[in-house]
Amino acid sequence: MTAIHIQGLGTYVPERRITNVDLMSRVDTNDEWIVSRTGIKARHMLAEDENGSDAAAKAALCALEDAGIEAGEITHVLAATCTPDYLCPSTACILSGKIGSHGAAAFDLNAACTGFIYGLETARGLLAAAPDAKILLVGTEAFTRRLNWNDRTTCILFGDGAAAVVLTNGEAGRPRKRLPAAARLRDVRCGADGRQYALLTVGGGTARDYRPGDPVQDDFYLQMQGREVYKLAVRSLSAVCEEILERNGLTLDDIDLFIPHQANLRIIEAVGDRLKLAADKIFVNLDEYGNTSAASIPLGIGDACAQARILPGSRVLLSAFGGGFTWGAALLEF
Ligand code: ACO
Repeated sequence: MTAIHIQGLGTYVPERRITNVDLMSRVDTNDEWIVSRTGIKARHMLAEDENGSDAAAKAALCALEDAGIEAGEITHVLAATCTPDYLCPSTACILSGKIGSHGAAAFDLNAACTGFIYGLETARGLLAAAPDAKILLVGTEAFTRRLNWNDRTTCILFGDGAAAVVLTNGEAGRPRKRLPAAARLRDVRCGADGRQYALLTVGGGTARDYRPGDPVQDDFYLQMQGREVYKLAVRSLSAVCEEILERNGLTLDDIDLFIPHQANLRIIEAVGDRLKLAADKIFVNLDEYGNTSAASIPLGIGDACAQARILPGSRVLLSAFGGGFTWGAALLEF
C-alpha cells in the first residue's frame, strides 16, 4: 500500500564537545548538580565559522544519499528551527542553496522543540495535496548562540545539532544505510497553548524595538521558567501520547520504542512513570547532546537505529514539547 514514508535519514553533531566540567570555567556549576537535575553530561557546540544552516546541510546531504534521491528532485525544503541564521531569509532557503535544491519551495517552521513533529504534520499535509512531492525536513539548532552564559539554570541545558529526513509517498522498500527500513508515518498529532508563551522565549525578534548601537538586553537570550516548563512538559507529553495511541486503537504494549524529546531525564522518567512504560522501551541520548530542540527527535531516531534499538517491524512513538507552549506526537512503523 502506498503511504507516507521516511525514505532516508542523516544526522550531524558538531565536533566540539563541551563536558559539564568544561562548563565550570564559564559558570558556577558542577557535574554532580547537572547530572542529578538533568541527566546531561555533555553537549556539542558549532564551530565559530559554522551556522545552523551548515549543520542542516551536512545532515540533509546524508539523508538524501540514504534515500537515493538527488537534491534537485526535492520539491519542498522545510527547516524546523527556533535559532535560525537570520530572521529573514529562512534557514530553509539558505540550506536549499547550499545543497542545490534550487527551485524547491523552502520555508522555516518554528514550534521550538516540537518543530520536527510539526514538520512531520506539515509534510503529511503537503503529500496529501501533492502526492508526488519529495520533502526534505531538517531539524537544526544553534542554541549555544542564544544562551545567557550568566544564567546557570539555562546555559547548561542546550546543545547544537541537526538531523534530516526525506519523506515521500511510497512503499517500505529496501533497508537504508541509516534506517533498518523506510518508516511509514502512521499518524501525527500536534497542539499548542499560546497563553503560556512567556514560559520560554528566545529574543532577537521585533518585540523589542532595538535601535542601531543599542546593547542587547537579557531577553535577547533564552529565558525560561524552568519549574513551570517542567510541570507542563510532563502533563502535555503524557497526554499527547495517550491521545495518539487511543485514536489509532493502540496501547503502549504495541510500542517497541518511545523516543521522547531529550530535554531532561527527570521529565522523561516522570512521563515513563505516568504512562507505566518499562525503562528499556524509552530511548535516551541527552547525556551526550543536551537539549538540541528541533533536532532532538530525529537525532534520537538516528542513534536508536545505529544501536539496533529500532529493527524492521518496530513501531516507534515520538513525542515532544517546547516553547510556545507546543506539544506533539507521531507514530512510525519500520
Ligand atoms: N549548577 C549548580 N546549581 C544550580 C544550577 C547549576 N547549573 N542551576 C541552578 N542551580 C541552583 C539554584 O541557584 C538553586 O539554588 P538555591 O536553592 O540556593 O536558590 C537550586 O540550584 C535550585 O534551582 P532551581 O532553578 O529551582 O532548580 P530546578 O530543580 O527547578 O531545576 C531545571 C532547574 C533543571 C532547569 C528544571 O527546572 C528543568 O529541567 N525544567 C525544564 C526545563 C526544560 O526541559 N526546558 C526545555 C524546554 S524545551 C524548548 O522548547 C527549548
